[in-house]
Amino acid sequence: MRFDVITLFPDFFEAPLHIGLVGKALQQGIAEVHCVNPRDFATDRHRRVDDEPYGGGVGMVLKPEPFFAAVGALPRQQPYEIILLTPQGETLNQKILQELSQKAQLILICGQYEGFDERIRQHLATREISLGDFILTGGEIPALALINGVVRLLPGTVGKVDSLKSESFESGLLEYPQYTRPPEFQGHRVPDVLLSGNHQAIARWRRQQQLVRTWQRRPDLLAKRSLTPQEQHLLQTGLAELAEDKTDMEEPTDVQKPSI
Ligand SMILES: C[S@@+](CC[C@H](N)C(=O)[O-])C[C@H]1O[C@@H](n2cnc3c(N)ncnc32)[C@H](O)[C@@H]1O
Repeated sequence: MRFDVITLFPDFFEAPLHIGLVGKALQQGIAEVHCVNPRDFATDRHRRVDDEPYGGGVGMVLKPEPFFAAVGALPRQQPYEIILLTPQGETLNQKILQELSQKAQLILICGQYEGFDERIRQHLATREISLGDFILTGGEIPALALINGVVRLLPGTVGKVDSLKSESFESGLLEYPQYTRPPEFQGHRVPDVLLSGNHQAIARWRRQQQLVRTWQRRPDLLAKRSLTPQEQHLLQTGLAELAEDKTDMEEPTDVQKPSI
């Protein structure tokens, strides 16, 4: 898969793209990332990429010409998407990452300053993506987050494909609690079931924990997902067990509880 990042700060991508699983995937040729500086496509004497906003106001706006020229000069691999990183876009989530991982090429346009001339948004981008409801100084961190999340899903990046499936959001639920050695730490014991060697009981416990944890922390996710009768039973018994141990009971706060 090919990524082209249109950025005024190509150096920003150096270290993060050489580290960890993503670094390894790029080394193995699972994906390639090319950074293009729109300043290299500015034609005026000062190689300007921004200018004052028409109508007045604070800050500088990114000019359309260098961005259209930078994207226009790229080779294309079908199917591709030209993504504008902007707080006004659809909020990035696991489903969008999965969709994007099916593309052959992603062209990511990073903003800076006050943002883009509207013509970049309307006539160059095919999609707009936000990292969340907050404002950063530039689109580089959102672009890195997107590259990281997409590359992670590409075949070969993560050794055990099963570990992708149980991860939070993959099944519309949060992940179950994980433990490793030692079996007891500062008086806190690993749940007996995980040490039992009974794979069926472990799978049941994990699904129950996923359901309870999602009910506690992200009831909005449960409300979007229909539960099988078996899952409803698991959730009800899991909540009943929790109610006995009130210390561990987290009531969902800001979102309405789904009916179970
Ligand atoms: C300071 S922001 C501009 C914000 C713009 N004036 C607005 O209110 O929508 C500069 C650039 O950072 C990037 N950016 C900032 N926050 C972002 C977010 N939450 N998601 C994606 N990109 C973001 C965008 O590329 C944006 O053009």
